[in-house]
This record gives sequence, structure tokens and C-alpha cells, in this order.
Amino acid sequence: MSLDGAAVAVRTAATKVFGDHVDKAEGYVELLREHGVERGLIGPREVDRLWERHVLNSAVIGERIPEGARVVDVGSGAGLPGVPLAISRPDLDIVLLEPMARRVDWLTEVAEKLDLSIIIVRGRAEEREVREQVGDADVVTARAVAPLARLAGWCLPLVRPGGLLLALKGASAAEEIERDQLAVRRAGGGSPVVAECGSAVLEVPTTVVLIERLAAKPARHRGRQK
Ligand SMILES: C[S@@+](CC[C@H](N)C(=O)[O-])C[C@H]1O[C@@H](n2cnc3c(N)ncnc32)[C@H](O)[C@@H]1O
Repeated sequence: MSLDGAAVAVRTAATKVFGDHVDKAEGYVELLREHGVERGLIGPREVDRLWERHVLNSAVIGERIPEGARVVDVGSGAGLPGVPLAISRPDLDIVLLEPMARRVDWLTEVAEKLDLSIIIVRGRAEEREVREQVGDADVVTARAVAPLARLAGWCLPLVRPGGLLLALKGASAAEEIERDQLAVRRAGGGSPVVAECGSAVLEVPTTVVLIERLAAKPARHRGRQK
């Protein structure tokens, strides 16, 4: 595809995904383009592929999130996937959780500049105070934060029973599930399911692992059963 053809394809996808909010999505891409590398949020090679590899790829997971859901984006970093989700789905009630002060500053600036109604919390997902503050979420999202076993241990306690952990995982999804399913179960999750989001608009859809938080943790066997 020619450069112009690629730009048109991105523009068409952006309009479909962000609808009336596409100007805000452009504003976010511009902020990342101008400051992302210098502030250590993205690698230099990412600057030319912000839309398809980061922003659209993040926003399309909205198709798996119910109307009006309370969402916690764990390890938001540059704001992915939380900021594109907040732009494309203003019905969602979104918390961005991030432990690093300079990334929290960045997220706060982005929220102000784009006039986004999101809450930014500094902390780690596994901290008791964080669980008390942002727990009982309908959906927890995470992208490039940790291997599935660790992610499940950190994130599932933040999800209400019956709610979802939605981990953006790419090509490693099936392998991580195979390796980590016992740890997921121990952390209170159901059977992980791999799904693709954005097939109708993206050349390369986003691969996500969906894990439902079960009503109660399975009982642990102590000693031998008679
Ligand atoms: C590789 S970055 C990914 C950032 C963003 N999600 C993205 O896709 O660009 C991982 C982020 O997770 C954050 N993080 C690491 N451990 C965490 C934890 N225990 N709880 C919450 N966030 C964590 C880091 O500070 C960092 O910003």
C-alpha cells in the first residue's frame, strides 16, 4: 500500500473507532508524537506507527466492555489502553492506575489537555490501599504490564465477581494461557479465553485474553483428604 493509501486507511479506521471524538484522538497522538520519546513513554520506532500499533489497537477493546462499566487500567504508562478507551467510550467510568510519578504527571497533563473525565491513581495494583480505593471494578485492563500469572494475581482482586480482566497480549496469548492457567485459577479467575478485537476496522486485530473473576476463590486443600 502507498504511504497515502496507508494514511487514508488509518484515517478511515480512526473515524470508525472514535466517531465524533476523533479530534481528541488526534490530539492524543500529537501529544505522544511530540513528547512520548523524550519523556520515556514510547520507543523512537513507535512514533510513525502510533495509530495502528497503539491508539486504534487499544480503543477497539471497547467492543468487549459493557455500557457504563467501571474500568481500571492497570499500569497505564503512556495511557494505553486507558486514554483511547476514555476518548472513544465517554460512557465508561475509567481509572488509570500507575506507580511511577513522572508517568502519573504525564497522564494528568493528558487528561487536562484533552478534557478527559478520568481518575488517575498513583500506586501498584497489588497494594492493599489501591485495592480498597479502586477495587470492585467491572473490568480491569492491562497492556504490556506483566506475564499472565503475575497479572492475574495483581488484577483479579480488583475485579468484582462476574467482572472481567482484559489483558492485551498479542502473539504470546495462547502460550501464556497454557503456562499460567493454574495461577489464574488460584487467583480467582475462570478459564481464560482468547479473542480478537477490531477485526472489522484493523488490518491486524488486537488479541486479548479475557478472564472472568469467579464468585469465590476455589478452596485450597490443606493436607491429604480422607
Ligand atoms: C511496559 S509499561 C506499559 C505501559 C502501557 N500499558 C502501554 O501499553 O504502553 C508497564 C507499566 O506498568 C506499570 N506497572 C508495573 N508494575 C505495576 C504494578 N504492580 N501495578 C500497576 N502498574 C504497574 C509500570 O510503571 C509501567 O508504566
